[in-house]
Amino acid sequence: MIKSLTKTLAAEWALHKHNKLNRRGVVDSKAQQFHVIRDVLPGYHFKEVLRDLKSIESHWVRSKTEWRRGSAIGGHELREVCSGEWLRYLFSIEFLEKARRATGQDLLQYVPVEDTNRLSLLRYEGLEGGDGIDWHVDGSIYLGQRWAGILTLLETTGEDTAKLEIDSNGLLTSFPKADIVNSLVLFRGDHVRHRVRPMLEGEERIVLSLLFSDWPQRTRNILLRGYQSKVNKVFYNNPNP
Ligand SMILES: [Fe+2]
Repeated sequence: MIKSLTKTLAAEWALHKHNKLNRRGVVDSKAQQFHVIRDVLPGYHFKEVLRDLKSIESHWVRSKTEWRRGSAIGGHELREVCSGEWLRYLFSIEFLEKARRATGQDLLQYVPVEDTNRLSLLRYEGLEGGDGIDWHVDGSIYLGQRWAGILTLLETTGEDTAKLEIDSNGLLTSFPKADIVNSLVLFRGDHVRHRVRPMLEGEERIVLSLLFSDWPQRTRNILLRGYQSKVNKVFYNNPNP
């Protein structure tokens, strides 16, 4: 009991310090790994997602802030409007094992179902519908390691490399567009700098955004949770942290 309380308090303090430092660009050089799983969804599930995308057209929430002008559908809404087997597959042990093997994190699991970022859809469209945020690291509200996953569903662009770019310990990685579709890029987004390059006219990109942790216990720090609520409101018009 005392041991677990000490562990929690130490993690809360480390998270507080980490969020403070990463806003100043100071991140852990030992947390710079990223992994790519190609053809992560079986072909029939991938086709199913594309079919579902057509039927959820009216559910996209458009952001209109300086740093975000794309559209999104949060996890809660996604579960209401999609019923395909692909959704169940993403939460299956088979899929989770793929993420665990790739990251080497045996305890990796999805963040709790209450978190709308657990699985959400993001869309970037044309000059006015992209991300204005440029290079950044994410904030975290979890006491354990935070692993972001970006599963590209559509990348209709005029360039040879995918719009997602990663800067790991100062080394820039871009991904060939030819095999980015149906690939899952896993990275510790609160430590690894990343960005989505500006969209150009006529371009479109749709991704599933997944969130995992090896200890998905949310912080009790109301400032951090409040910040996450604001981000969720901008992305999904839903402040649930
Ligand atoms: Fe990010």
